[in-house]
Amino acid sequence: MFLCKCPQLTPLQSRFLASLAALATIALIYWSLSDVHFAYAAELAVDGSGQLRDGGDDHNWHRIVDVQLQEDGIVDQDVSHTLHARAVPTQTTAGNNYANADNLQPGDTTVWIFPNDQLTGPHTARGPGLPRDVDEEDEVEAAHPDLRRRDEDTGESDTAELETRQDNTASEIYISVNTCNQPLYAGDGVQSAAPPQLTLYVSTSADNASPAPGQDASTQAEIPLTEGYANYSTSVSGAGYMSVHAPELPSNFTGVWNYEIAVSIDGFYHNIGGNGSNLYLIDSDSTAALLVTNNLTQANPGSKSYNQWMNLTAPYVVFANNQNRTATMGISRSYCGLNQISQVIGKQMDPTGEFTNVQMEMITRGIGGKPKEQFYITYLNRSSNYHATLAQPGNSTASGNGVVGGGGIVWPQMSFTTKTDGNCALLYNLDFCDQVAYAVPSSPDRVDNYATFQNFYDNNALTWFQNFNYSLQQIPCDTDSASQYSLARNCSDCYQAYKQWLCAVSIPRCEDFTSDATYLQIRNVGQPFLNGTMLPDAYLNQNYVPMSNAPTIQGSLAFVQTLISSVATNQSRNPAIDAHIAPGPYKEVLPCEDLCYNLVQSCPAALGFGCPYPGRGLEVGYGTRSGSINGSLTCSYLGAYVPTDAALALNADLLRVVLFAASAAMLIMVGL
Ligand SMILES: *[C@@H]1O[C@H](CO)[C@@H](O)[C@H](O)[C@H]1NC(C)=O
Ligand SMILES: *[C@@H]1O[C@H](CO)[C@@H](O)[C@H](O)[C@H]1NC(C)=O
Ligand SMILES: *[C@@H]1O[C@H](CO)[C@@H](O)[C@H](O)[C@H]1NC(C)=O
Ligand SMILES: *[C@@H]1O[C@H](CO)[C@@H](O)[C@H](O)[C@H]1NC(C)=O
Ligand SMILES: *[C@@H]1O[C@H](CO)[C@@H](O)[C@H](O)[C@H]1NC(C)=O
Ligand SMILES: *[C@@H]1O[C@H](CO)[C@@H](O)[C@H](O)[C@H]1NC(C)=O
Ligand SMILES: *[C@@H]1O[C@H](CO)[C@@H](O)[C@H](O)[C@H]1NC(C)=O
Ligand SMILES: *[C@@H]1O[C@H](CO)[C@@H](O)[C@H](O)[C@H]1NC(C)=O
Ligand SMILES: *[C@@H]1O[C@H](CO)[C@@H](O)[C@H](O)[C@H]1NC(C)=O
Ligand SMILES: *[C@@H]1O[C@H](CO)[C@@H](O)[C@H](O)[C@H]1NC(C)=O
Ligand SMILES: *[C@@H]1O[C@H](CO)[C@@H](O)[C@H](O)[C@H]1NC(C)=O
Ligand SMILES: *[C@@H]1O[C@H](CO)[C@@H](O)[C@H](O)[C@H]1NC(C)=O
Repeated sequence: MFLCKCPQLTPLQSRFLASLAALATIALIYWSLSDVHFAYAAELAVDGSGQLRDGGDDHNWHRIVDVQLQEDGIVDQDVSHTLHARAVPTQTTAGNNYANADNLQPGDTTVWIFPNDQLTGPHTARGPGLPRDVDEEDEVEAAHPDLRRRDEDTGESDTAELETRQDNTASEIYISVNTCNQPLYAGDGVQSAAPPQLTLYVSTSADNASPAPGQDASTQAEIPLTEGYANYSTSVSGAGYMSVHAPELPSNFTGVWNYEIAVSIDGFYHNIGGNGSNLYLIDSDSTAALLVTNNLTQANPGSKSYNQWMNLTAPYVVFANNQNRTATMGISRSYCGLNQISQVIGKQMDPTGEFTNVQMEMITRGIGGKPKEQFYITYLNRSSNYHATLAQPGNSTASGNGVVGGGGIVWPQMSFTTKTDGNCALLYNLDFCDQVAYAVPSSPDRVDNYATFQNFYDNNALTWFQNFNYSLQQIPCDTDSASQYSLARNCSDCYQAYKQWLCAVSIPRCEDFTSDATYLQIRNVGQPFLNGTMLPDAYLNQNYVPMSNAPTIQGSLAFVQTLISSVATNQSRNPAIDAHIAPGPYKEVLPCEDLCYNLVQSCPAALGFGCPYPGRGLEVGYGTRSGSINGSLTCSYLGAYVPTDAALALNADLLRVVLFAASAAMLIMVGL
């Protein structure tokens, strides 16, 4: 036992100390294994202000470089040849699949040598990779193959090739660079563009052992980094020569670059994913957002691949940044950069989000019921636009030095917006309405506990469902097909259709009252906002025409309603929400009309379901799917995600078949 008056450590501090101790041990072991010059380079670091920390005296630095050059047998290289008459530091990569970190001042170049012994050394075992997209026996094609293991890219097999190759035969090397930190804006006003990017030079000729700006272009390849990332692969015999060059800075930027370069004989260490962000917004509220990956597999429940995916905790992570944040401009394709300077960083070792603000879990919710990973991002600012990036740390189970692909994968970023008003809150992971995941009317004053909030909505739906379930038992469902009510549908279809419809209808999808989208239905205008103010009388008393195509029967009240007098606008679809939650005015994304048509078609006529007709309640009760409105959901259905570019809602025209007479029960739900 220690006997000291030590201050009490918070769990976070003790964790930090534990990891620091582990780090120190690793550093010691590492030191004893590594070359002195590499250990020295690792000490160079950038402090918070983007300035190079004092990493020792220059004299010592050059001595170490010279020693290393002699060791590498390249003393007669003209290492002092530079554009700026400054010595070009030449460094040797620390190993196959190693991230070599370095700082660069504006205008400087560092030459890197991938020595022959690393080129001819053993390949590194790649590991099995993430679970296969589908089991071989499933024979289902993946809808989106891009999230799969990326080892196909380099044509290498998963099995380790541990044999050592012959010396002096040409072999492929894979070079990749990530910008980890970059100069900061020091100009006036708001930064409008990213600082300039670094450039990777790779020698393509035995004559060029110090590729750099100004060398003969026929002996080297010049690859400018894009958004903090560059890759290049080439075949070399003997050592590989490359360099990273920093441009001169315009006067409105100051500081240095910090980057990682990795060379591998197995495959790229840093990777980028193609074909879209693979990340979808399920919904947001004013402080949080719920994002989900693409389907990770098309395998069916019970199959090996499906179970393997669901056994994973958090194979992917997410980074997010306010779009007005200029520090992350220019590094959207760099895992290292995003992982260092993002505002929101999901950590694989902390999937519960206890020490970050991202909770991560595998789910099967959503259309198709396939495995996906969900990200619940909290502590966001209201009415703000964010960029979110899906990323894979290393090969997903290991990352960093010595791991093939240890530098991770980043996919293209997507955008989302947080809500403004504060009376819509994300609701998900319900027991009964398990497919519900969207923002619902809420009020921080009345909702002090998330479990009570969940139970309020879920129990409401379950209570109604139990009445229906009882009625369903009265209908002969499980008899032979001759006495079934329909040849096409049976009682389990009816059960599912009713559950879908009931959950979508009794748990309204909430939008800001301040949103002016035309497909939204105004609700609950007679209650005060959360800040206590009421909508002005002039607004409340304005004429409200719920259905422009309502029949003009004499004496009909259809055209003399006001926002405050119409039930459709002065209360919620489910009045218990107004009484128990008191969210104040909000707007509702109406449930899709096809949920109602599907219910009517799936259930026995004896249950008496019907949908309202157009002009007689359909418009205020249901919405229509629209393929034309990009970036927003025009009606609510379970498993929905906000459509982006190509991902559009399915066409519901086929479902618009028969309309049944409106039943009294339905009209109550519709709120007329
Ligand atoms: C990741 O790399 C480690 C070490 O190389 C390996 O043991 C592991 O199996 C790999 N993981 C996957 C998912 O391939
Ligand atoms: C991207 O998607 C298209 C069409 O779905 C496909 O043809 C292409 O091979 C994909 N590219 C990658 C890199 O996965
Ligand atoms: C920096 O200054 C240059 C002119 O010197 C200007 O063209 C550029 O837009 C400025 N960059 C930013 C990010 O404001
Ligand atoms: C290498 O870079 C190119 C160009 O940026 C990109 O298209 C390609 O996907 C990258 N390769 C890998 C493995 O990330
Ligand atoms: C999933 O995990 C459980 C418990 O860790 C294990 O018994 C099972 O074999 C795993 N399933 C698959 C398909 O990996
Ligand atoms: C996931 O797969 C299902 C089919 O199994 C498909 O209907 C759904 O659109 C897919 N989801 C995404 C996000 O592509
Ligand atoms: C929210 O806004 C505050 C104040 O502008 C800012 O400091 C903070 O970084 C922002 N947080 C996020 C996650 O956007
Ligand atoms: C960025 O947006 C947040 C709100 O999301 C705001 O608080 C902050 O002041 C903005 N920052 C800049 C530089 O505009
Ligand atoms: C109260 O909140 C509403 C909705 O968020 C807003 O439109 C209104 O301006 C606020 N009133 C005051 C006095 O802050
Ligand atoms: C509906 O009734 C059936 C048969 O009694 C029962 O098995 C099922 O659990 C019920 N569903 C719900 C949600 O209560
Ligand atoms: C009802 O029909 C579906 C197909 O529409 C079928 O999968 C299911 O087994 C049937 N259920 C019963 C109880 O017959
Ligand atoms: C509108 O709703 C408010 C609050 O829910 C209620 O007090 C008021 O009586 C309603 N007005 C009308 C005309 O129904």
